[in-house]
Formats: sequence, C-alpha cells, structure tokens
Amino acid sequence: MSLLDKVNNKNIPQHVAIIMDGNGRWAKARDLERSEGHREGIETIEKVVDACTQANVKYLTIYAFSVENWLRPEDEVNTLMDLLVYFITKETPKLLKNGIRLQTIGETERLPERTRNALYKCMEETASGEKLTLVVALSYSSRWELTKAAKDIAADVKNGVLDGNSITEETINNYLATKNMPDVDLLIRTGGEIRISNFMLWQASYAELYFTDTYWPDFDEECLYEAILYFQKKERRFGKISEQLEKENQ
Ligand code: IPE
Ligand code: IPE
Ligand code: MG
Repeated sequence: MSLLDKVNNKNIPQHVAIIMDGNGRWAKARDLERSEGHREGIETIEKVVDACTQANVKYLTIYAFSVENWLRPEDEVNTLMDLLVYFITKETPKLLKNGIRLQTIGETERLPERTRNALYKCMEETASGEKLTLVVALSYSSRWELTKAAKDIAADVKNGVLDGNSITEETINNYLATKNMPDVDLLIRTGGEIRISNFMLWQASYAELYFTDTYWPDFDEECLYEAILYFQKKERRFGKISEQLEKENQ
C-alpha cells in the first residue's frame, strides 16, 4: 500500500518547495565522488515530480542551485550545469506527456549558454502544461530576488509607473521572480540541516516546514507523501486562534 492512499485529497498543499540537500554526503558515505550524488539526485527529481502529479500538487519548486553555490569548486559547478542540461533534455517528452510546465526563477543570465538554452527550449515547449508547474530555482537566492525587486520598484517609482505611497504586499509579490505563483504551503528540506539557506524567505512566510535527515538521493515518492501527511496534520492558523477557525469551517 502506498502512503498516497492515506493522503486527504481535499487538503493538498498547492505549492510544495524543496531544498534538495545531501547529495555530497550521500556520495561520501559510499566512497563515491560528489558528482555521483548529484547524478543520483537527478533520478529523485523525476520520482518527486511524478509523486506531485499523482497527489495533485499544482506548483513544485526545487532549489537546484543557489547564488552561493557559485562559490563551489569549478568542476562541481560544471558537473551540476551539465546534469541540468541532461535532466531537462531527458525529461521534456515526459513533461509534455504529463501536462507539466517548466519554469525557472533566478539569475538565468549567469548560467552557461548550454544550460540556459536547454532551459528556454523546455520552457517554450511545455508552456501550455496545466497539470503541474515545475519551477527550477537556478542561481536563485531570496536576498538576490528581494534586492532586485527593490531596485525595479525604485525604477518604476522614478519613471512614474508606480506611486510609492500605494505599494502593498501585492505590489511586492508582483516584482518577485515568483510573480503569479501562490505562496509556499509546504517547505521540505532533505539532508538533515535545519536551515533555509536563502530560499523563498518571503514566499514561505506561512509555510509548514518539514525537515528530514534523508539525503536527497534516498528521497522518493513515499517520502513526499509522508511530508504531505505531516502537512495535513497541521492546523494553519495564520495568526488566528483555533476557535475562530472552527467557526469559519462550520
Ligand atoms: C545538493 O546537495 C544540493 C546542491 C547544492 C546541488 P549538496 O551538494 O549540498 O550535498 P551536501 O550538503 O554536501 O551533502
Ligand atoms: C542549499 O543547499 C542550496 C540547494 C539545495 C540548491 P546548500 O548545501 O548549498 O546549503 P548550505 O550551504 O549547507 O546552507
Ligand atoms: Mg548541502
């Protein structure tokens, strides 16, 4: 029996975001190169995308490469960029078949041409997918995103496109890379660290946080369903008290 059978399909997190961590340690534990961990991690993405489709999740954002990850050894960065091309190219037919739309957030212009091209091609081909939006965060960090939003807002106020006094939370949402996406409902981090590492600081303000020691290459469909079951046990109060929520649900 799959844990999917236990999942309440009336309370599915609309937006799941994942900090896919632990590839290096997974490899080290097996006396393998770190790149082998990244390779194995690609297979996990495929499983988790399938599981999200099965569970009817609408947005899945995966943190594939942070702005800070550019500081890693050049060899490792190159391997990751190659693996992304491999993943995107291999997955495109499946994404098309399953109605999955690929999108990206981050400093796309910093990516090597081969990675950028593969990404844009896949995004174009899958643009009409409606079942699930798969968002790959690449050269992404929250502070980069918020700094960029501040600059863009300042420019628009200066140009007279925007009235500074009328800026609301909604305005800020519209200047983020995640514009038009719902807030994160469930944030998962694999690999045992209990930290956010500059990911979705604004969008995950009210997300349920799920941390697991499982290294990303060992994570699978059932692990995803387990995280959804954890989410479903939570009472999301958004600042209110339980009694108010009970009344609202009557
Ligand atoms: C993968 O895990 C996440 C990426 C940055 C690609 P790591 O490569 O960070 O693995 P650990 O944390 O060293 O085990
Ligand atoms: C976070 O993992 C970034 C991604 C998963 C892409 P890291 O391994 O880079 O995070 P830190 O450095 O341990 O916080
Ligand atoms: Mg790590």
